[in-house]
Amino acid sequence: MQTVQDAAALRAVIRGWRGQGQTVGFVPTMGNLHAGHHSLIKLARARADRVVASVFVNPTQFGPNEDFERYPRTLVQDQVGLAEHDCDLLFAPDVTTLYPFGAASSVSIHVPQLTETLEGAYRPGHFDGVATVVCKLFNLVQPDLAVFGQKDFQQLKVIERMVRDLSLPVKIMAAPTLRAEDGLALSSRNQYLSAEHRALAPQIHATLLQMRELIAKGHARTVVEQAAASKLARAGFEVDYAAIRRIEDLAEPADGEQEGLVALIAARLGTTRLIDNLPFD
Ligand code: PAJ
Repeated sequence: MQTVQDAAALRAVIRGWRGQGQTVGFVPTMGNLHAGHHSLIKLARARADRVVASVFVNPTQFGPNEDFERYPRTLVQDQVGLAEHDCDLLFAPDVTTLYPFGAASSVSIHVPQLTETLEGAYRPGHFDGVATVVCKLFNLVQPDLAVFGQKDFQQLKVIERMVRDLSLPVKIMAAPTLRAEDGLALSSRNQYLSAEHRALAPQIHATLLQMRELIAKGHARTVVEQAAASKLARAGFEVDYAAIRRIEDLAEPADGEQEGLVALIAARLGTTRLIDNLPFD
């Protein structure tokens, strides 16, 4: 597997493939790759002739008090994992390639509505940073398809909306959330957890399963949401939200609505913020 850092080198490799009529699948990441990321590579591998991954810790999607500085950077280890999963090319740009005018002066893409709720409400500007960097990466790689994890459910929805609204010629594919045996969704941030917090963390997934069960039994949405939040708070989590929303637009469902729903939780254990979700289907 080849690694390229600059846009010209990236384009040269991709031009070669295109000349042979090959299709390109793309998996954008921030690195510190785990089995969840590798499952996205596998999906791209199955659907395209060539697979490109990117590793870029994107400054514009981190808030001022978030973990940009301490976000784990493990490029050599990431290269080994990507090569093992048959990735053809790693694009690992530096910040000036993606933000030639500086991150603060960049053109910014704002996806309205969808980004105002849930993560968007707790992380102002986060999805502008995500949409902007993903659009830039799409322009550089020009993939036929790109794979995103359902783990970041709202992010997936925001990217789908941006692609449709801007008529970007890329097919977005969703990959299911990969979990540890105890149910905890794999995440680069799990390694920040103390042993005690790591033992508590699977309660997020257990709570999502209970929310699904209670809705299926006909309990009222707001009651289910409140019960989930208090249960997690009692266990020691600081809960940002435990919500049931429509899959389609993340809007609040009407009373009695049972089809096409997703439960989403964001909660903190110490300084580590965890998110997870469960589509009901
Ligand atoms: P990152 O957190 O590195 O995640 C890269 C991709 O891996 C995302 O699509 C994410 O949803 C997926 N992923 C993470 N954990 C997963 C799991 N346990 N199972 C399945 N997929 C999982 O998400 C980002 O980076 C950034 O916001 C990015 C899109 C790269 C823009 O900077």
